[in-house]
Amino acid sequence: MPEGKYSILVVNGPNLGYIGQRHPGTYGTQGMDAMHTILEKDRPGLSARIHLSRFQANGEGEIIDRLEQAWKDKVQGLVINPGAYTHTSLALGDCLAWINIPHVEVHLSNIWSREEIRRQNLTAAQSLGVIAGFGVMSYVLGLEALVWHLDKIQD
Ligand code: DQA
Repeated sequence: MPEGKYSILVVNGPNLGYIGQRHPGTYGTQGMDAMHTILEKDRPGLSARIHLSRFQANGEGEIIDRLEQAWKDKVQGLVINPGAYTHTSLALGDCLAWINIPHVEVHLSNIWSREEIRRQNLTAAQSLGVIAGFGVMSYVLGLEALVWHLDKIQD
C-alpha cells in the first residue's frame, strides 16, 4: 500500500450548498457532514488514507477557478458533483479534461431514472466513472473508488 495520504478535493456545484434540506425526497435528508461521519465511523481505514478538502459554489466560473487551483496545488484526486452543470456545461467538461486530475463523478440521485434532460451529460466522459443514486453515500463510495484507482496506478 502506498505511503502517505492522498490529497483529495470534494467539489459540489450549484444548489448543492443545502444538501439534506433541498428536496429531501429526491436528494435525501443527510447533509455533507454525514459524509465525514460515515468516513470516521464506518470507514476509518479509508478516512486515514485521505486528506480531504471541500468546496461548493453555485457559479460555473468559480468552480472552474477552484479546479484550476487544484491543478496548481497538485491535488491528487477529485470527487465532483457538478449538479445541473453536468447536463449543460461544456466549459466544466473542458476544464476537467485539461486539468486531467483523476476523478469520480457522483450524484445524490440516479440521474438516469429522472427527466430526459438529466441523461445528457457533458462531464462524465472525463471521469474514471460515475456513482449515482445513493444520497450522501455516493460521495463515500466515490472516495473509495478513487483511492482504489490511485493505489492501482501507483503499483
Ligand atoms: C444532482 C442531479 C442533477 O441533475 C441536479 O441538477 C442536481 C443534483 C444529484 O446529485 O443528484 O443539482 O447532481
